[in-house]
Amino acid sequence: MKYYLTTPLYYVNGAPHIGHAYSTIAADVIRRVKRMQGYDAVLTTGSDEHGQNVERAARAAGEEPAGFATRVANAFAAEWDALGLPYDRFIRTSSAKHHETVQWLFDRCMKNGFIYKSGYTGQYCFHCELYVNEAKPGDLCPDCKRPTETVTEENYFFKLSALQQRLLDLYESDPKFVQPESRRNEVMAFVREGLRDLSITRSSIKWGIPVPAEGHHVFYVWFDALIGYLSAVRGEQAGGEDLWPADLHLIGKEIVRFHAIFWPAFLMAADLPLPKRVFAHGWLLFEQDKMSKSRGNVVRPEPIRRVIGVDGLRYFLLREIVFGQDGSFSYDALVGRYNSELANGLGNLASRTLTMIHQYRGGAIPAAGESEISAVAAEAIRAAEAHYNEFEFSRGLESVWGLLSAVDKFIVHQAPWKLARSEDPAASGQLNNTLYTAAEALRVATVLLAPIIPESCAKIWTMLGMAEPLDAARFSTLAWGQLPAGQKIGETIALFPRLEQKETIAKMMALEVEVAAAQAQMLGRAVPPAAPPSEKIAIDDFAKVDLRVGLVLSAERVKGSDKLLHLKVDVAETQPRTILAGIAEAYTPEQMTGRKVVIVANLQPRKLRGIESNGMIVAASLEGGKPVLAGFLEDVPVGARLK
Ligand code: ME8
Ligand code: MG
Repeated sequence: MKYYLTTPLYYVNGAPHIGHAYSTIAADVIRRVKRMQGYDAVLTTGSDEHGQNVERAARAAGEEPAGFATRVANAFAAEWDALGLPYDRFIRTSSAKHHETVQWLFDRCMKNGFIYKSGYTGQYCFHCELYVNEAKPGDLCPDCKRPTETVTEENYFFKLSALQQRLLDLYESDPKFVQPESRRNEVMAFVREGLRDLSITRSSIKWGIPVPAEGHHVFYVWFDALIGYLSAVRGEQAGGEDLWPADLHLIGKEIVRFHAIFWPAFLMAADLPLPKRVFAHGWLLFEQDKMSKSRGNVVRPEPIRRVIGVDGLRYFLLREIVFGQDGSFSYDALVGRYNSELANGLGNLASRTLTMIHQYRGGAIPAAGESEISAVAAEAIRAAEAHYNEFEFSRGLESVWGLLSAVDKFIVHQAPWKLARSEDPAASGQLNNTLYTAAEALRVATVLLAPIIPESCAKIWTMLGMAEPLDAARFSTLAWGQLPAGQKIGETIALFPRLEQKETIAKMMALEVEVAAAQAQMLGRAVPPAAPPSEKIAIDDFAKVDLRVGLVLSAERVKGSDKLLHLKVDVAETQPRTILAGIAEAYTPEQMTGRKVVIVANLQPRKLRGIESNGMIVAASLEGGKPVLAGFLEDVPVGARLK
């Protein structure tokens, strides 16, 4: 039996952060769970390389989109490798295979009467790559709150309106098609409101897949990227079955409409089988805000994996956050859980148990009779698998930790260190039972945890001296008592060395700065040259400069100037300030709106092109290059003073 699952195909306009890693790690966990249930599980990830946003990022780096996209796609693949995430396919939307599949799907939709050509003028959001149906010129995008732009195009349209009822029937007849329930309700409400036909080509963009027989049209990003899930495995089989349709599309909640409405509609129109399930997980928040490339408040996986290891990160993400809901990332909670649950919990139990077997039984698993823990283990096996099947990873982990703490208590109660010294003839048998129970519970827990923390589980497996590889273990055969008596255990290796909280966090944060700089360089963004030393000033001189945090409320170009943006900036005063900034060649008005900046608040007002500017935006000025705005990694309140 096959199980085909996918992660989103990530945009290559930025480097991977732990938001992306979260989805890919969760997909890897599901892949491993399915493999342990005997499926031929196949995982596709990849890169979404076309469209305006990527084109803009490439141009900003002074490059052609193709070369830029290749470099960033490789950075994603390299991060998945470094995180130990074995994907089976990495589909790039720029690949010939994908181009061909998109054109093929378009032809099928066309033959079935779902495509027509028509002129269209509407408000377009370039950030979300979407027309905003009801918007008037000047309106903001309801999703990202950036200004929309008026776009007029002669385009191909997809008859989405014709599929409204079929989509509703799909959600009704198959309640698991969109999950969790809250997302299903959102999608159904949206479709019930009425669906408009969808413009699926663009003539204003060059970087994309050409529409057959149309020189200057390319496909709209979503009638491109979504099809990647199919291109990746088209015509292929696993376990004697066609890989398509997908069993699961795992995504973040902001793209659920594309996956649960557009995608099945495209497939219905092309007469192709539909995916079985779309599961949208929540957002990873960092200091109360969604972590995102455009907000710039990201945490990268590299410092974390280098300092505490891949399993520490995997464990934290799956244990801390209820899968499907939003959850916060914090370094404190990450190190806290690592120490209390991995180092003191699992790690300690494993090392105690194996050390005692070495010490008291010469490193051989003793023979034993019945154990009171066997029922607890059976329940943990049942519960963990049931939770994993529902993607309730945090609850699955709780079930396993229930077993671990029962064993801990059992060991304390049995006090094997006393039994070992006892003269009582029954003590030796009781010690055998205690050690066997602890080792067998450890074996069971290791199999149950293998999908979540595979690297550490492989180590415990080796320490237990197991003959068959951990990969070959199956939940279904995980009954109590299979640990063979007499089996020689291996050397005890330290699993989760305890971490000093403050020092560890400082190490990760220092690395974060390094990695951010390396990523900026990879993205072709300017890395600041060393500034020449300047004249020394007294602290009082510096104190004269009133530097404050401001929030850009709106931004527009100044007519007749290529350089100037006209900004309204909230500095927590009674009125927002008008500031003119010479940054229009580096930042679009859309990029500026909603962004926090540092301003010099006590500069003499200055009139430029008939507008009075009341302040200056602080930016790094790079040699011969463009300005780069100062900002913060953490969230800061508007009006805060810098000193
Ligand atoms: O949307 N919390 O790509 P993208 C949790 N190319 N998950 C997050 C996250 C966060 N803060 N930030 C990102 C696209 N993600 C399209 C997809 S699919 C055919 C095309 C994860 O680079 C999450 O899975 O913006 C989210 O849906 C995805 O990255 C968005 O990645
Ligand atoms: Mg996104």
